[in-house]
Amino acid sequence: MAAVESIWKGLALLLLVTLRSIPEFNCSFEMSFIKVDESSDFSYHNLPYGVFSTRDNPRHRIGVAIGDQILDLSVIKHLFNGPVLGQHQDVFDQPTLNAFMGLGYDAWREARKYVQMLLAANESTLRDDAHLRGRAFVDQSSAVMHLPAEIGDYTDFYSSKDHATNVGIMFRGKENALMPNWLRLPVGYHGRASSVIVSGTPIRRPQGQMRPDPSNHPPVFGASKQLDVELEMAFFVGSGNKLGEPVPIEKAHEHIFGMVLMNDWSARDIQAWEYVPLGPFLGKNFGTTISPWVVPMEALTPFVEANAVQDPQPLPYLQHQDPYTFNINLFVSIKGEGMREAATICKSNFKYMYWTMKQQLAHHTVNGCNVRPGDLLASGTISGPDPESFGSMLELSWRGSKVIDLGGGESRTFLKDGDEVTITGYCEGRGYRVGFGQCQGKILPALQQ
Ligand SMILES: *[C@@H]1O[C@H](CO)[C@@H](O)[C@H](O)[C@H]1NC(C)=O
Repeated sequence: MAAVESIWKGLALLLLVTLRSIPEFNCSFEMSFIKVDESSDFSYHNLPYGVFSTRDNPRHRIGVAIGDQILDLSVIKHLFNGPVLGQHQDVFDQPTLNAFMGLGYDAWREARKYVQMLLAANESTLRDDAHLRGRAFVDQSSAVMHLPAEIGDYTDFYSSKDHATNVGIMFRGKENALMPNWLRLPVGYHGRASSVIVSGTPIRRPQGQMRPDPSNHPPVFGASKQLDVELEMAFFVGSGNKLGEPVPIEKAHEHIFGMVLMNDWSARDIQAWEYVPLGPFLGKNFGTTISPWVVPMEALTPFVEANAVQDPQPLPYLQHQDPYTFNINLFVSIKGEGMREAATICKSNFKYMYWTMKQQLAHHTVNGCNVRPGDLLASGTISGPDPESFGSMLELSWRGSKVIDLGGGESRTFLKDGDEVTITGYCEGRGYRVGFGQCQGKILPALQQ
């Protein structure tokens, strides 16, 4: 028996060694001269863009995350001398990503190629220039992250079928769970850009009008008692379109710059009273948190999956055959005051989306509505089929009817003051990750009335 076992072990080892010699199976370590841990979100395969400052230099500037470092593009902008960026190096000297986003698809591809080249293990330009290297790299731990773009407009879709079905069942019953339009178009609403904030910014519990109980009494005013999280992702529009000229679905990907994590904080009691007939308003617009690093779509390409089967077939302007659904693991955790560790309340995946981002953008512009560089278009809550993948406390607690166990005697139906909510997400490659970092916010008590 022992001999058979050791033969198997030997074969397994041989297989491992063979696989490791194939470049695709041996990804992270040696590709860049910057060391990246296997569990780091910011592998050489990722290279997300963000805007940061440091205590020594409060100027907001554009950087690329790799491992636990930031490559400051404002310091090395002169090295981008390709056909497009050679004429536009100044986009890396801006305090936001808007100008770079607006340059378009070819510019993004060129920039990524240059950054990959400059960080490559075999490339000496940065690696062997101690002076330039010293100025160009910043420890992430010493950086303050800012919003990556000036967000002109923010739209939130409602594109997870499981989420829409769950909410529909709760509020309208099983028969009418999905409204008749839901399977025909990506439903959405115009959100508010002024209150989109970067991860780490605290959220004050909102006050407002709420449905009375019993409901034949006049409404009451006070602090929301049903403050909720919504696990979402969002994409930044890169190049926009002219007013009156829709983005055709076959070109939509050329307008999608990259993605972030998003928490669409929601006050369910305020929302429930106000939303008829025009939709979300003050129950949503008191704060929307996004993660600071924008992961380029090119970095997500290896994790693309078949799109959801859509039945009925959508109208032609919403049809596309190429896969544009991505396998991104998503997690939501809560750490209440006094809790030693955060408790994970949700494990979901971006691949559960029914409508693709290409369909969302084609639909958004089909009437001639123009989008602009830096516009933020969000997914809506991302729930999957299993209860553990429900992306809001509304669903996890089934409208407050059951408790969400956080362990150690802690439980929730909705958020308490002092709760710190963290969304994380990553694609898992072989020996590397393409991750999004964190989207985090802590609940502050409501203002004194
Ligand atoms: C570095 O390696 C890459 C990939 O093998 C190759 O394309 C590139 O030409 C190399 N660069 C240098 C400076 O040797």
